[in-house]
Amino acid sequence: MGVEVIKWREGTLSIVDQTTVDAVVEAIRQLRVRGAPAIGVCAAYGILVGIRENGSADSAAVIQAVEQTAARLAATRPTAVNLFWALDRMRAVTARAEAAAMSKEALYRALEAEAAAIDQENVALCEAIGRTGAPLVTENAGVLTHCNAGALATAGAGTALAPLFRASEEGRRFTVYADETRPLLQGARLTAWELVQAGVEVVVICDNMAAQVMREGKIDLAIVGADRIAANGDTANKIGTYGVAVLARAHDIPFYVAAPYSTFDPKVATGDDIPIELRPAEEVSQGFGPRTAPALAAIYNPAFDVTPARLITGFITEKGIIAPPFREGIAALRETGPND
Ligand code: MRU
Repeated sequence: MGVEVIKWREGTLSIVDQTTVDAVVEAIRQLRVRGAPAIGVCAAYGILVGIRENGSADSAAVIQAVEQTAARLAATRPTAVNLFWALDRMRAVTARAEAAAMSKEALYRALEAEAAAIDQENVALCEAIGRTGAPLVTENAGVLTHCNAGALATAGAGTALAPLFRASEEGRRFTVYADETRPLLQGARLTAWELVQAGVEVVVICDNMAAQVMREGKIDLAIVGADRIAANGDTANKIGTYGVAVLARAHDIPFYVAAPYSTFDPKVATGDDIPIELRPAEEVSQGFGPRTAPALAAIYNPAFDVTPARLITGFITEKGIIAPPFREGIAALRETGPND
């Protein structure tokens, strides 16, 4: 796709010119960088920003800066597990360093290498997810997606959008229906933009049109991304995903979730245990300009919902499709990691 969301060059993290931990924290919180894998990659580089900002005198100070920065980054967005997964990977480097009594320079280099590995690994994971999912996207298919799980949400080609890019590269023509995705319109603003850039036919619909579009027989397949998948397959993704899954089931349309191993959370047994981020009321009442709800009306704004595993046809992963019953396939994917 060629869209570089996050860059790490010569010791500087660049997300639209952001170079302090405050700025990285703010960028994640304000969704300047968003999408579970991209948040993880950004957090890994954010640790390096914390070390540089702190001026860390010796390796003990580097380790302290890692801990302090990780704590601040962990407090940004609670649902996307890739954030915590990436921070754990960075912390694991310092745990190894403590044991090996590394110099501060060697420790910094090890952390830098780990952040770059998380970044590059995500590129490969997206590519593999694309290969797994592309055969599902047949000639003339209608594919519905929700939110944005493309290059703008990862370090690579995306998760839910990767099979679409791949199928298009393989020469198939099909139509993507992009839910606009209230309240922040990631579908209309981001997914539609990415698909237009890639030359894929895209039709933007309001979220409440999905049922009618399905009823008209325009949808053969739904593919969405994920922010956290529980051990039983219950899946947290952008608010509205659950509704799409219910509608897909009502119309006998396959509903797939595309995600890398790092989005599966073995520590969480079911969707009931996934923390759901609540976001500011203004995103709903005046998201993009004029107020659209009375000032005295209460607003509820959960950023994610949980789709029960029973509504999911399969998980499109870097290692293939996980079909129901999910528990075993999910455990195997999470245990083996990306390279085994
Ligand atoms: O609030 P956002 O925009 O970060 O939510 C993004 C999503 O819900 C995506 O579908 C998910 O993170 C997967 S991105 C590959």
